[in-house]
Amino acid sequence: MTVNGTRHQRAVEPRLLLSDFLRHDLGLTGTHVGCEHGVCGACTVLLDGAAVRSCLVFAVQADGRSVDTVEGLGRNGELDPLQTAFHDAHGLQCGFCTPGILMTLVPWLEEHPSPTDTEIREAISGNLCRCTGYANIVKAVQLFAGRRNDGKAGLSP
Ligand code: FES
Ligand code: FES
Repeated sequence: MTVNGTRHQRAVEPRLLLSDFLRHDLGLTGTHVGCEHGVCGACTVLLDGAAVRSCLVFAVQADGRSVDTVEGLGRNGELDPLQTAFHDAHGLQCGFCTPGILMTLVPWLEEHPSPTDTEIREAISGNLCRCTGYANIVKAVQLFAGRRNDGKAGLSP
């Protein structure tokens, strides 16, 4: 599979989860594992551009496909504009949920350039955060959307 633009080839057990493949085989530990049964959203990555829970996908199901993880958002050590907005608006505390929320939002924001607060809350309703109360996450997304609409922020990958 291709992960963050780099092709990887491995022989793996059919039962190996994509989340474990990313974390243990490739060392991409930015993809977090919380519940391991599709509830918390911490493990969300992009599979061929669509947000999926990597704890519900077997690694072999990604054979020949493209995966994007949170490590692929930044460029040359710089934060991606969405990550920057989360930083600037204090959209995280412990950060455990953050990679999954970011990867949920990346494709969603492509379809929703000017979201309402309610739409943002619905978009991340499958991502559990035990710290923030979500208020600053919504602010961060609005900050990003405003900057992008002003031509001051792009979006990757
Ligand atoms: S670890 Fe995958 S949804 Fe919780
Ligand atoms: S910032 Fe701690 S779980 Fe969301």
